[in-house]
Amino acid sequence: MIKFAIVGTGAIASHHIKAIEALPECELVALCDLNEPLVKGLSEQLGVPYFLDYKDIPANVECDAVILNLPHGLHMPASIFFLDNGIHVLVEKPMANTVEECDAMQAAADRNGKKLAIAHIQRFFDVNRVVKEIIDSGELGTPCMYSEQRSINYFLPSRPAWFTNKKMSGGGIVMNYGAHAFDRIFYTTGARPVSVSASCQNFINDRDVEGHAQIFTKLDNGMSAVVTFSGYSTVVYEIYYYFTGGALKLSGTSGIFIKKEGEKDWTAVPFEKTSGEFVGEIREFCKYVNGEPSIIPDYEYSRAVIDAITKAYNS
Ligand SMILES: NC(=O)c1ccc[n+]([C@@H]2O[C@H](COP(=O)([O-])OP(=O)(O)OC[C@H]3O[C@@H](n4cnc5c(N)ncnc54)[C@H](O)[C@@H]3O)[C@@H](O)[C@H]2O)c1
Repeated sequence: MIKFAIVGTGAIASHHIKAIEALPECELVALCDLNEPLVKGLSEQLGVPYFLDYKDIPANVECDAVILNLPHGLHMPASIFFLDNGIHVLVEKPMANTVEECDAMQAAADRNGKKLAIAHIQRFFDVNRVVKEIIDSGELGTPCMYSEQRSINYFLPSRPAWFTNKKMSGGGIVMNYGAHAFDRIFYTTGARPVSVSASCQNFINDRDVEGHAQIFTKLDNGMSAVVTFSGYSTVVYEIYYYFTGGALKLSGTSGIFIKKEGEKDWTAVPFEKTSGEFVGEIREFCKYVNGEPSIIPDYEYSRAVIDAITKAYNS
C-alpha cells in the first residue's frame, strides 16, 4: 500500500484523487493547499486531514509519496523538501522552470535514495499509445513530420493568475501546453530535438507571458515538428503525423483518423479504451516506487522537455 498526500488541490487534483480511489494499492492520507475553504471542503468530503503549509506534512502524517499539483515555480522547492524528508515525489508537468531546477530536483532524489517522477500524461492516453503502435509498425512508411495546431482561450478570467505570471509559471502557452506537445512528440516518435526555434508573442494584453507561438523543431530521427499555439480563442485542436505512405490525424486526445496514399477519405481508427490516463499514470508511479519495471517518465525525458521549451524561448 502506498500512502499519498496531495499538495495543491486545484483544477488537476480531482483526477489524481479519483485515480488513487480506483487503485487498491493506493491510499490518500493528506491534502494540502493554501486555499483553506477549498482544501477544508475536500478534506471533509474525503475524510482525510488537511494542511495549509506543506512543510507540516512529514512531521504529522505517515506518507510514502506526494503528488505535487503546484504552480510551476514551486515544483523545485517543494520536490526537494519532500525528497529530503524521505518522501517519494510525483510532480505535475512541466518538471520545473529551468533545466538547472530539474538537475537540483534529481540531485535531491539521488542523495536521499527516493523516487522522483514527472506526470507527463501523454503516454497514458489511449490515442497516443495507438499512434505509437502505428508508427512502430511501419504500416504508413517512414514518419516525416508532425504538425499540431491548438487554439484555446488562454486568458479566460477563470485561469488562476499564476499561469500568466512568468516567475511562477516559467512562461505562457509554450511552457504549459508545449510540455504536452513535446511529451507527445517524444513518446510517439521516440525522437529528441537536435534544434528548436520559435516565435513567441503577445498581441492582446500586457501579461509577461506569450499569447501565441510557433515552434519549429528538428528531430534526431530526421523528422521535423511545427507546433502552433494561439491563446486567444478556443477554436482548433488538431494534430497531424505525415508519413511516406499516408497520414494520421488526431482530434485532440479523443480520436484518430488514418488516410493512406490513394484514399479519398479519412477513416476512424478503432481502439480499445483502457482504465483512463490518470489511473494509468498513478499505477505506473506505484510500480516505480516499488522498484518494479515502469513506464513513468523519468528525469532524462522530463529534463529534455524543459530543455526544448527553454530553447524555444531563447531562440
Ligand atoms: N496533466 C495535465 O493534463 C494537467 C492539466 C492541468 C494542470 N496540470 C499541471 O498541474 C499543476 C497544477 O495546475 P492546476 O491547473 O491544478 O493549477 P491550480 O491553480 O488550479 O491549482 C494549484 C493549487 O496550488 C495551490 N497552491 C499554490 N501555492 C501553494 C503552496 N505554497 N502550498 C500549497 N498549495 C499551494 C493553489 O492554491 C491552487 O489551489 C501545474 O503544474 C499544471 O501545469 C496538468
